[in-house]
Amino acid sequence: MRTQVVIIGAGPAGLLLGQLLARAGIETVILERASSEYVLGRVRAGVLEQGAVRLLDEAGAASRLHREGLPHDGFSLAFDGRDHRIDLFGLTGSRVTVYGQTEVTRDLMEARDAISIYEAANVQPQDFDGENPFVTYEKDGVTHRIDCDFIAGCDGFHGVSRKSVPQDAIREFERVYPFGWLGLLADVPPVSHELIYANHPRGFALCSMRSATRSRYYVQCTLEDRVEAWSDDRFWDELRRRLPVAHAEALVTGPSFEKSIAPLRSFVAEPMRFGRLFLAGDAAHIVPPTGAKGLNLAASDVHYLSDALREFYTEKSMAGIDAYSARALARVWKAVRFSWSMTTMLHRFPDGGAFGQRIQEAELDYLIHSRAAATALAENYVGLPY
Ligand code: APR
Ligand code: PHB
Repeated sequence: MRTQVVIIGAGPAGLLLGQLLARAGIETVILERASSEYVLGRVRAGVLEQGAVRLLDEAGAASRLHREGLPHDGFSLAFDGRDHRIDLFGLTGSRVTVYGQTEVTRDLMEARDAISIYEAANVQPQDFDGENPFVTYEKDGVTHRIDCDFIAGCDGFHGVSRKSVPQDAIREFERVYPFGWLGLLADVPPVSHELIYANHPRGFALCSMRSATRSRYYVQCTLEDRVEAWSDDRFWDELRRRLPVAHAEALVTGPSFEKSIAPLRSFVAEPMRFGRLFLAGDAAHIVPPTGAKGLNLAASDVHYLSDALREFYTEKSMAGIDAYSARALARVWKAVRFSWSMTTMLHRFPDGGAFGQRIQEAELDYLIHSRAAATALAENYVGLPY
């Protein structure tokens, strides 16, 4: 079989790229290791930058997002027992949309302009340092080969694409944080109509939502914590303790239907192109969820990559392809910096000490008293331009 672009991975990055290329008349095949049900079962963040919304529009997959997504003009920073609003719209003229990543994935799956093959085992990108790359995979016990012009590695942090690159051709940068996030989903109305990011002596907490009737809450936990040790009651008690009194009293609790622990990590691989293999999304970089940049960065990579491939097929030009890695990485590093700084400002670090705490207090105090500082935070939160 032959196609123009093989995409490895049907997470948001792979599906969005497949959809944009298919709509531009470029033949693509998406190979996904898991089943579509499994992909839809993963719960991730839920804040979209306007650039990501625009891309989903271009992909023809945004009609439900426009109906059900919640526009947010600001969020709260809670510390020292009080709430301080960051007026995103007032400071930047831009807003974000709260809409679950699971829903984005579902909408992209339903758009179906690209061919997707699920439960493809042992996917291997091959010969991407030459002119004639191909990808092999196994399905129902049969080995298949797809010849192509390009391979897009959109297979997440643990995928095969980055691992297929020779060690000496790639440089990796990493920071692992000494804590995790325990997240809970419950069908209860959100405690506030906007997100609350709380810095508290007991640890960070975040109040987010999926809709007017579904809430997503997180508390910072240790790396040793196990979900089984956290009953719903224990979670709700801990969350309440970390919120200003008015929110703690207003918090509506109820049975959870999902609870999980995620470690926090910053990671970047450079470059993001190796001959005819590209990396995009989590395959190339990971950010801690503070600031909700993961999906948005996957979207900006896909923007640069889909533009580059369209330029190649319509104008026979390699310019966008040659520029892809540098363009994408320039934006990636700014989001990595932002996610790291939000994480550092809001969490309790086991080894932070009294000095670390005073620095956090000074930073938060500066943020709420300086319009310049608040604007810098806000313009990163709503998303830097593509
Ligand atoms: N072969 C085929 N598919 C694979 C392989 C493989 N060897 N390895 C992984 N995959 C698939 C995974 O099953 C998954 O569906 O690649 C997909 C990668 O999807 P994500 O991990 O969601 O990564 P990405 O599409 O880059 O999305 C970025 O989603 O994961 C979140 O935090 C992330 O918000 C960020 C955004
Ligand atoms: C979420 O809703 O899951 C969420 C929101 C904002 C974040 C992280 C996660 O910064």
